[in-house]
Amino acid sequence: MNVRRLTLLAGPGAVALFICRGLMVRGIRAIDQRGGLATRRGERAYGSVAPLFAGLHRHVVDDVVSIVGNRPAVVIDIGAGPGDVLFALTWRAPVAVLTGVEPSRKMRELAASRGVAEVDGSAETLPLEDGSVDLAVSTLSLHHWDRPAQAFAEIRRVLRPGGQARLYDVRFATYTEAEVRQFAHDAGLGAATVRRSVLEEHVLGVRPYVLITLDA
Ligand SMILES: C[S@@+](CC[C@H](N)C(=O)[O-])C[C@H]1O[C@@H](n2cnc3c(N)ncnc32)[C@H](O)[C@@H]1O
Repeated sequence: MNVRRLTLLAGPGAVALFICRGLMVRGIRAIDQRGGLATRRGERAYGSVAPLFAGLHRHVVDDVVSIVGNRPAVVIDIGAGPGDVLFALTWRAPVAVLTGVEPSRKMRELAASRGVAEVDGSAETLPLEDGSVDLAVSTLSLHHWDRPAQAFAEIRRVLRPGGQARLYDVRFATYTEAEVRQFAHDAGLGAATVRRSVLEEHVLGVRPYVLITLDA
């Protein structure tokens, strides 16, 4: 196939991909805004797909342990859901001070039933003091946030000097590199303090996860 024909095909292909991604992200947010995950059916649906994310959760727990070591670091999990990451960290980082922030009461109740502490709040309104957090993590939640730029500013507010945030999400449902740069700009953060990268982790031959790092 010559270059001209390839270019003619690539254009509509890129537009179709862009539209599909946009529809998927809108669909996921619409479900969430109607309380999707917080219903019994939503919980059941998430419970049945959750094992697919066990590899990502293990990766995140290893990252947290390698960052905080054996320090009594303050670690928060934003949009912690049923608390899988925090539950593993109670064993793997036993001296860390762990808190989940979660807007759904049902999810908080599920976490509490496993002995995981989560408080009511959202990424846009973190119920935490300025400069009080060493490490903020989040898994599979960023694409649900209504106002990501406000959330970035809020995360920056609660981090101690030298602290960092690591936000892990599904590459095809979450924000693009350009959007992340824009949120960082709107949040008044320096471009160098926010980075987006694709994780090495492979699932069914693709690399489905991204990591957004935000330095204090
Ligand atoms: C797909 S679940 C992921 C749960 C958990 N982090 C995990 O990896 O299993 C997304 C979670 O984000 C929460 N969420 C939705 N909007 C949020 C917001 N604005 N701030 C923080 N969390 C939010 C939902 O209630 C839900 O528990």
